[in-house]
Amino acid sequence: MKRAAITGTGTEIPPHSISNEELVSVFNSWVESENARRAKAGEPLLEPSNTDFIVYASGVEHRRVIEPTGILDPDRMSPRIPERSDDELSLEAEFAVASARKAINAAGTVPENVGMVICSASHHQRPYPAIGIEVQKELGTGGSAFDMSLGCSSAAAALHVANSLVCSGAENAVLVTSPEIISGHLNFRDRQTHFIFGDASASMLIEPLEEGEIREGAWEIIDTRTWTQMSNNIRSNFGFLNRASQERNDIVEMEGNLIKQVGNKVFKEVTVAASHFIKDFLADNWLSPSDVQRYWLHQANGRMNAMIMKLVLGHEASAEQAPMVLDRLGNTAAAGAIVAFDEYSADMAAGEHGLICAFGAGYSIGAALVRKM
Ligand SMILES: CC(C)(COP(=O)(O)OP(=O)(O)OC[C@H]1O[C@@H](n2cnc3c(N)ncnc32)[C@H](O)[C@@H]1OP(=O)(O)O)[C@@H](O)C(=O)NCCC(=O)NCCS
Repeated sequence: MKRAAITGTGTEIPPHSISNEELVSVFNSWVESENARRAKAGEPLLEPSNTDFIVYASGVEHRRVIEPTGILDPDRMSPRIPERSDDELSLEAEFAVASARKAINAAGTVPENVGMVICSASHHQRPYPAIGIEVQKELGTGGSAFDMSLGCSSAAAALHVANSLVCSGAENAVLVTSPEIISGHLNFRDRQTHFIFGDASASMLIEPLEEGEIREGAWEIIDTRTWTQMSNNIRSNFGFLNRASQERNDIVEMEGNLIKQVGNKVFKEVTVAASHFIKDFLADNWLSPSDVQRYWLHQANGRMNAMIMKLVLGHEASAEQAPMVLDRLGNTAAAGAIVAFDEYSADMAAGEHGLICAFGAGYSIGAALVRKM
């Protein structure tokens, strides 16, 4: 078996930011008009949303999105993203390519040296042709490409696959890209989830290391792992059978098939599962939690990450030990932990260990233990 390393990372963060105040204002103005209708119809009224709750419960203050105007229009509350022709580059592939080019540049290589693209995200724009193949074509990489998906653990799970392929010698250089356009799949009229998510794209290049090679600045992958266990507490029913399940012939009802979650159950169950997972994974690699200098955790909830770190370390972690990007980006699904890794790893010294760990729908958890070279 060879050794493999993450030799480059890159991110693409959309320029448009939406604050909690803006999001709550549009939500509450929709609730007001919806409640007027409900009152007349004798239906139960909706509760308004609240910025203080959002900051306390989740830690999110702003989120970046690809298209804000449709989201902030109370008559629409969904991004307005025009359809592109089949001959144009799709939005998801474009978003992937933007971060992928940066990752390939950071690795000091060229697309021609990449043998495989894995496009791994919690939502894909279409089933086929695979978005990864479009990315392959646009970048000019060789070999092959495919899409995979494992909720918010998509990037970590793809890293597990890429590491295995590179270490076995089956592939030479694998690009993992996670373009998350989650605003397109979020129900901005759902009080429980409207504030949580944001858009971001993150990519990593995984390359083999020669015998005894030390590639300065790269991250040697010591071990990777994924874990899954069926749960309905975070669920999207969006899929190809939605149309077939409609009672009426003339509508396709979307809203009921967007993301939904039982947030407090997810919070409790995943916090416990992730802390056990991390402790077991490190122990299997002969490391104690204090041997790991940095934890790049999934960016779903600030309190949740603080609790996971406390359960893992036995005491609170510093902001430096477990950096957060959630406050300004929202939960960017699979991209989140990789964005944190990209932004908060350059200062680390050779020989220091770090853990990328993502968790979410499935339930699923994925992790990579890395060491700076
Ligand atoms: C979603 C989440 C932020 C909600 O926080 P929470 O503290 O669990 O909140 P709860 O759902 O228990 O609701 C607490 C109260 O706030 C209320 N509330 C919910 N959304 C609200 C909103 N937008 N504004 C104001 N109040 C709100 C609820 O109605 C409830 O009120 P009640 O106590 O009167 O019944 C949190 O559960 C979470 O982040 N979970 C993990 C999600 C996750 O990791 N997902 C992974 C996949 S990416």
